[in-house]
Amino acid sequence: MTETTLIAGQVLQTHADPFSTPPEEALTVASGAVAVAGGTVRATGTLADLRAAHPDAAVHDHGDALVLPGLIDAHVHYPQTAIIASWGERLIDWLNRYTFPEEGRFGDPLYAADVAARHLDLALANGTTTTASYCTTHPGSVDAYFAAAAERGMRVVAGKTCMDRNAPGELLDTPRRAHDESADLLARWHGRGRAVYAITPRFTPTSSDEQLEALGALWAANPTCLMQTHLSEQIEEIAWVRELAPEACDYLATYERHGLIGEGAVFGHAIHLEAREVTRLRESGSALVHCPTSNAFIGSGLFDTARRKADGIAVGLATDTGGGSSFSMLRTMAAAYEVGQLTGAALHPAQLLWLATTGSARALRLGDRIGRIAPGMEADLLVLDLASTPAIAQRAARAETAWEAAFPTIMMGDDRAVRAVYLEGRRLEGRGADRTAGI
Ligand code: GUN
Ligand code: ZN
Repeated sequence: MTETTLIAGQVLQTHADPFSTPPEEALTVASGAVAVAGGTVRATGTLADLRAAHPDAAVHDHGDALVLPGLIDAHVHYPQTAIIASWGERLIDWLNRYTFPEEGRFGDPLYAADVAARHLDLALANGTTTTASYCTTHPGSVDAYFAAAAERGMRVVAGKTCMDRNAPGELLDTPRRAHDESADLLARWHGRGRAVYAITPRFTPTSSDEQLEALGALWAANPTCLMQTHLSEQIEEIAWVRELAPEACDYLATYERHGLIGEGAVFGHAIHLEAREVTRLRESGSALVHCPTSNAFIGSGLFDTARRKADGIAVGLATDTGGGSSFSMLRTMAAAYEVGQLTGAALHPAQLLWLATTGSARALRLGDRIGRIAPGMEADLLVLDLASTPAIAQRAARAETAWEAAFPTIMMGDDRAVRAVYLEGRRLEGRGADRTAGI
């Protein structure tokens, strides 16, 4: 018989989308437990009821700590781990000065394996159980990431970043190589264990029309894969796309004409959108990913989450490291709150937690597997200490509601708040943070 574990604490449950249902009805927090067995959630309820139903179960009682779904970072560049916090440039110069030279190192499989392991350990240390990562143009960089994720039991999304222009020669492929290498990688990895493949043209400035066409054909032939790319992040980038593709009516059209929009299409940033782009994104069921620390760090602009949700578009949340300035999805939620204030909407803590869990899961078309605590869902769970530092503890002590208790950790928390991480119901040994001690 499969062994059952009861994970007890203040359990966060997701009942509806907090952007269309009052947030405190959409998500609730109550003292209780989660019964997990065979890698999935079997039941939720009071600890007493679940103990009675499973008298032989092991009990992990986390007391006042918050038990929530593992956080989901819906857009990240693992090869940029070692160049996070690189000073002084806007997007295109930042790519040329810091990013491309670093990505050039990933032709070495040992280096790729080292950084892949480091990135995933940093993610786990911060309570992130799923990432959607760009790799580099080197196929070995994709193997390294999926292999490191499989070793840890993590569900990750990843893909070979395709580029055939406007980058250093050693990073360029061709339309044919982009197609064939991506096809080979997805045949080997997509659906193997917990791996999900994303066809990954970096963005229009570095992918020719021919390359986008080849990748559109590949996606059409493999529709269960995701497609991830960048859209309308920075004003200079959009002007460059206009120069490169003067016949396209807008930036999105450069993807759309090759079939690179639709369900399973995941667009990072998408800050500066035209009305037509918003309409087509909604009609096609494409998803957007908000990367607030990156958008501030690189000086890109303010993504209006509440407006895009009201437009009926799926929105996830992401660090976008190394353009983003933190590996922590808590810090990312705090940045999303601050950007919300600047765009006229104070996002409720329930909305922030939803974006980092269910919102990201849905953006990655994984909403039926991860991102909520409910029977049948994969048991990737996070336990957060809501009093992890003196500053947070003294504020949380004054809280009168569960949301008021959680908000100081959202705004001021970091990896010290991560008390436990479970992957498919298995508790990681030591906190994720301990696993990175050897770096
Ligand atoms: N646009 C194209 N490539 C990148 C990247 O690596 N980071 C960010 N932030 N934007 C991009
Ligand atoms: Zn990015």
